[in-house]
Amino acid sequence: MSGTPETSLPSTLHQALLALLGPSGLLTDTTDTAAFCTDWRALYHGRCAAVLRPATTEECAKAVALCHAHGVPMVPQGGNTSMVGGATPDDSGRAVVISTTRMNRVHTIDHADLTMTVDAGVTLKAAQDAAAAEGLFLPLSISSEGSADIGGILATNAGGNNTVRYGNARELALGLEAVLPDGNVLDLMRRLRKDNTGYALRQLLIGAEGTLGIITGAVIQLQPAPRARETALCAVESAAGALALFGAFRKQDPAAVVAFEFMSGTSMGLVNRFIDGASLPLAEPAPAYALVELSSPRAGEGLRSLMEDVLGEALESGLVTDAVLAESETQRNALWMLREEHAEAQKRAGASVKNDVSVPLAAIPTLITDATAACEALIPGIRVAPFGHIGDGNIHFNLVQPEQMDAAAFSARDHDIMDTVAEIVRRLGGSFSAEHGVGQLKTYMMPSWRGGAELESMRRIKNALDPEGLMNPGKIFPAA
Ligand code: FAD
Ligand code: MLT
Ligand code: ZN
Repeated sequence: MSGTPETSLPSTLHQALLALLGPSGLLTDTTDTAAFCTDWRALYHGRCAAVLRPATTEECAKAVALCHAHGVPMVPQGGNTSMVGGATPDDSGRAVVISTTRMNRVHTIDHADLTMTVDAGVTLKAAQDAAAAEGLFLPLSISSEGSADIGGILATNAGGNNTVRYGNARELALGLEAVLPDGNVLDLMRRLRKDNTGYALRQLLIGAEGTLGIITGAVIQLQPAPRARETALCAVESAAGALALFGAFRKQDPAAVVAFEFMSGTSMGLVNRFIDGASLPLAEPAPAYALVELSSPRAGEGLRSLMEDVLGEALESGLVTDAVLAESETQRNALWMLREEHAEAQKRAGASVKNDVSVPLAAIPTLITDATAACEALIPGIRVAPFGHIGDGNIHFNLVQPEQMDAAAFSARDHDIMDTVAEIVRRLGGSFSAEHGVGQLKTYMMPSWRGGAELESMRRIKNALDPEGLMNPGKIFPAA
């Protein structure tokens, strides 16, 4: 940090924003703004000149135009659940956070198109519930869905538990509305499955992590509600076993598999230790687990027999050593709780370093074996706790500090750990950023992973839309 931090808005801008947004739309007191300046993991602690809370696209566009005219940096923020510090301002105190939480209306649900038109600040859970109330299904599912909102999931192109069947957030967005860095509104709120008219601009905004503009609305593709669902937790010997089981299900009926998740014994152990009410419904702990969910819009017995056939064979061959099937929605929720609480359990276990990586499916066992050995050699006693969306080739290769190590000393090794894992991922043809984004955590990796024409093209696009570099500075792009 250099110079004296500027923590207040220029007074003309302050007056104009107050007139536009009203007192509830403009927070300047640090007791009100503090929560917007720290991330979910409490890794980043920034400061801001104000938090702007527009209630409509029009207000948002006018607020952005005012900030642009005054050269004030802007940090878009939704539910503030980023795993990579993407929504946290820097510590200069110059930026404003623009929060979408007051833009929270579900506008329409269309049964012919199977679409939902929503404001960006509608939480994913509220959007799922609105779809369910109409007998429809919004398939994106992540453990942070109670807070993460539609703008945030699109800005990060979130993945999650149902990607294996329905794709990432990108695949679900038919239309988009965004406020560009100069305050112009980009209205792409079409709900067409076919629309080849020049560049697909919405795809640029999706996954841009708020560096190209603020997403204010979206048209989301829905699905018919599932009428049959089967969920099972399976004990396996290794990630290779989990992959073989995934293959067995896919061979029978790929469309039926809506989720296929992996959990290492170590990470499941942390859930059992740190999460109240967590209890493993199997005879004994296993080296690894797979959580599989099948679903269908058709009611009937087909799914149960598919589940029993595949698991029966797997138990007989020893691929699966134990398994439990949910017999009710309560049991299903209890099984999913064991998976969904992984991030929270790791947070409570001490300092952790996250590697949200993806590799081709066949390379997952090598990734886990090699990265485990490399990390254990790097920091003796490190707790290797991988889990994640194995059906998508996406493993959260997370490392938790040794029991007796100082948390700060462990966190200081974060780049050593990330680089060690990343080099193995690179050798296996993977990506260092699978679903969480680059944020500020991984900007330093960009030149060596996306160098040459790829990073240069990204910079040109950024410069074309945001020549002053005001929109979410310090994210994705390494300092020039
Ligand atoms: P924020 O954290 O507020 O912002 C994230 C990024 O998007 C920032 O760069 C921000 O500037 C930008 N942004 C936010 N809103 C807008 C907008 N309207 N317009 C433009 N840019 C915007 N992620 C997954 O992909 N899969 C998972 O399974 C998953 N599980 C998680 C579990 C837990 C417990 C937690 C805490 C996080 C998890 N995440 C997961 C990460 C996180 O929830 C997602 O990245 C989510 O999409 C972020 O949404 P948000 O509204 O909280 O965005
Ligand atoms: C999850 O899938 O639970 C999160 O994306 C992973 C994490 O906490 O690293
Ligand atoms: Zn995840």
